[in-house]
Amino acid sequence: MTIVFFIYLLQLFASTNAALTFLNLTAISTTNGESTLECWQLSDPFTVSNQAGTTGTAVQQLGNVANASYVVLPARFDGGLHNAPAVQYVAFLSGLAHITLPNSNQEAWVRGGRNGLLIAADTAAVSKEGHITEYPSNTETTALQIPIAEGTLPEHKVLYAGPCSRREMKV
Ligand SMILES: *[C@@H]1O[C@H](CO)[C@@H](O)[C@H](O)[C@H]1NC(C)=O
Ligand SMILES: *[C@@H]1O[C@H](CO)[C@@H](O)[C@H](O)[C@H]1NC(C)=O
Repeated sequence: MTIVFFIYLLQLFASTNAALTFLNLTAISTTNGESTLECWQLSDPFTVSNQAGTTGTAVQQLGNVANASYVVLPARFDGGLHNAPAVQYVAFLSGLAHITLPNSNQEAWVRGGRNGLLIAADTAAVSKEGHITEYPSNTETTALQIPIAEGTLPEHKVLYAGPCSRREMKV
């Protein structure tokens, strides 16, 4: 009886934890004037929505944003070496982006869809050269670009250097 109750408590604890999971996303960040790739975990956890239409489901706040644009990149487009135009979320909806760095062999492959959200923060104010983005797929790549208000980075912790792996992107 005691053991059964203990197992019940463990399960309760596990499910409570699952509800409080954190969103991880790849960041194009900067160290000493060079762009880098990092896996970030946002400090605000998912919460339970109480909004009409999504009541009871997991929701992650992304903070105040400035505006939004929808971009369509042709098949095999080469975005070249550039700085992030503003500190912004980029949500790839379809296609494929390949991000590389001028002075490092770090790279990220970002497929459009469920795990397509990243944050680009290597603006000209902080990164000398920026990063290179190519879109190698045979179809168009589509994305939402959403600059963050005032360029304020969301509270986060760096999980590790390099892009987030699939293990960190379960939702
Ligand atoms: C969107 O916001 C960014 C960042 O504040 C700004 O640089 C850009 O000019 C804005 N774009 C438009 C169309 O307002
Ligand atoms: C974020 O990463 C942590 C550490 O690996 C993991 O426990 C958590 O489940 C991840 N979150 C999601 C939504 O995948």
